[in-house]
Amino acid sequence: MCGIVGYVGNGSASEILLNGLKRLEYRGYDSSGLAVLADGKLELRRSVGKISNLSLNIKNRPLNGHIGVGHTRWATHGIPSEENAHPHTDCSKRIVVVHNGIIENYSSLKAVLIKKAHQFVSQTDTEIIAHLIEESWELKQKNSNGKKSEEDFLHAVRHALLQCDGAYALGILCMDFPELLVAARKDCPLVLGLGKKENFIASDIPALLGLSKKVIFLDQEEIAVIKKNSIDCFNLQGKKVEKKSVKVKLDPVQAEKANFKHFMLKEIMEQPRTIQDTLRGRVFPEKNRLQLELNLSAAFIKGLKRITLVACGTSYHAALVGRFWLESLAKVPCQVEIASEYRYRDHFFSSQELVIFISQSGETADTLAALRLTHRFPVKTLAICNVLGSSLTQEADTTFYTRCGPEIGVASTKAFTGQLIALLLLAIHLGIIKKHLNLKTIHQILADLLNLPHWVREALTLSNEIEKISKRFLSKNHFLFLGRHTNYPIALEGALKLKEISYIHAEGYPAGEMKHGPIALIDKEMPLVALVTDSLVYEKICSNIEEAKARGGTVIAIASKGNKTIQEKADEVLYVEKVPEIFSSIVNVIPLQLFAYHMADLKGCDVDQPRNLAKSVTVE
Ligand code: G6P
Repeated sequence: MCGIVGYVGNGSASEILLNGLKRLEYRGYDSSGLAVLADGKLELRRSVGKISNLSLNIKNRPLNGHIGVGHTRWATHGIPSEENAHPHTDCSKRIVVVHNGIIENYSSLKAVLIKKAHQFVSQTDTEIIAHLIEESWELKQKNSNGKKSEEDFLHAVRHALLQCDGAYALGILCMDFPELLVAARKDCPLVLGLGKKENFIASDIPALLGLSKKVIFLDQEEIAVIKKNSIDCFNLQGKKVEKKSVKVKLDPVQAEKANFKHFMLKEIMEQPRTIQDTLRGRVFPEKNRLQLELNLSAAFIKGLKRITLVACGTSYHAALVGRFWLESLAKVPCQVEIASEYRYRDHFFSSQELVIFISQSGETADTLAALRLTHRFPVKTLAICNVLGSSLTQEADTTFYTRCGPEIGVASTKAFTGQLIALLLLAIHLGIIKKHLNLKTIHQILADLLNLPHWVREALTLSNEIEKISKRFLSKNHFLFLGRHTNYPIALEGALKLKEISYIHAEGYPAGEMKHGPIALIDKEMPLVALVTDSLVYEKICSNIEEAKARGGTVIAIASKGNKTIQEKADEVLYVEKVPEIFSSIVNVIPLQLFAYHMADLKGCDVDQPRNLAKSVTVE
């Protein structure tokens, strides 16, 4: 989720790295930093906020040198601050590291390193990497009587990385090797840019535009040894691997979108990975355990009498789904509230209650105002948020981060599925502590959770088919989205996505309510999108489809793979994986996101910046 650049050559490292970081800035990072190696010394500059703050910092205290690494941070562990900004160093300040990703076992590694007298200055997971390398590197030197061989240093890096669980893209420098830049990756992208008597590394191609036309993509668990005239790649066992370079032919804007036409499409397609990131290091099916960084004691959870969920827009829809999970898995009565309404009502809280505020940005004015009014009561508050250090996370008692990375498209997609996962994890966690789930159920749910990225990836393959269906329905001006149970909020979300970006009127309805009004609207000009995947209410929603068909309605059905009979009832069927019912909302929203996207794109709408809407609504 962060941005990395690295340089070795004859040019000014700080200038080149700053320009690279600026090209990544549009993603809204929260802090940045550079380390440059010159005259046998490593120097660091780090600043909170925009890259212009780092530029000013460097202007005031220039960095000369021809090798360096740079980083723009999007916080996941520790608030945006100078100490938490990368690069991070070891105790001796001889090694620097920039990192993208999450080291899942960082707390246990940190505890071991602290016992060995390592001194930590940040709250990041990244800092442990510098100390792990230091630990192995010192040992190597001791064993070779202080001899500093490059081979031994690379061995130390490999040894450190083999201890890390999780994801990383890394740029590493060591004062003992003034011409050596080391890069490594696992589960996070990293490219090596080739130049004349200079080479680069970057987390994303846009950082290299204008600098390098040829790149090498580093593969899983590979390490690159980069000097100004050479690049050598190895696997984590130290075996050399041959790599091929490829030409980059992207214009800057296109490159930022990773070749997708819009950020929204890129973000929809990213969801298998972002879901994985939300789950990362939190789910342990083999131990029947979740590890959530929540500051809610077991005693508080056991005594919990009510949960209120408060949010706006898409986050409100996530809250509506969350209610089902919290009630069914944790058996806690729940209520869901729209923040702009809730803030003007009377409130009654006891100390045995939890209020959950859901917001991807953490800055939505109504949600924040609703949080602030709870401060007068002895009630616990929890934020579910995507932006570390945002106002909501600072003011709530505790926060659960969704870790989806910056979302650029105004219409929320990957942040929504991140919120759903967060709520599901929370419901399971409460259910375990309140002893409402038996071991078999816990094991099954946790194991299934790890399948979610796969199920979502499968749903994304529907994109071309959905585009074709969108063409067929492009002339329609009204849509009715129907769902029941956990898929009722998904019908609301599908309708919201469609109206937000394509400006087509759409209503989301609980299917059982159709006969109380909306059925009067149905004719051939008002198509229905029905969520009819296998569930407790499958038969009921089928009846609702029949009612619509009998009145001349056209139906697009989202159904579970293997269901042939639905083809007789619906005009178009989009098949998703047959998944356990509690996960169906997370999978079913994917075709609806794609439907809204293709409709808007085919209509020529400004998908990423729809008219009259804002990504962060900081006014009432
Ligand atoms: C705006 C955005 C929506 C978002 C809503 C709530 O309307 O366009 O995508 O769902 O705000 O934002 P929040 O940051 O609180 O989730």
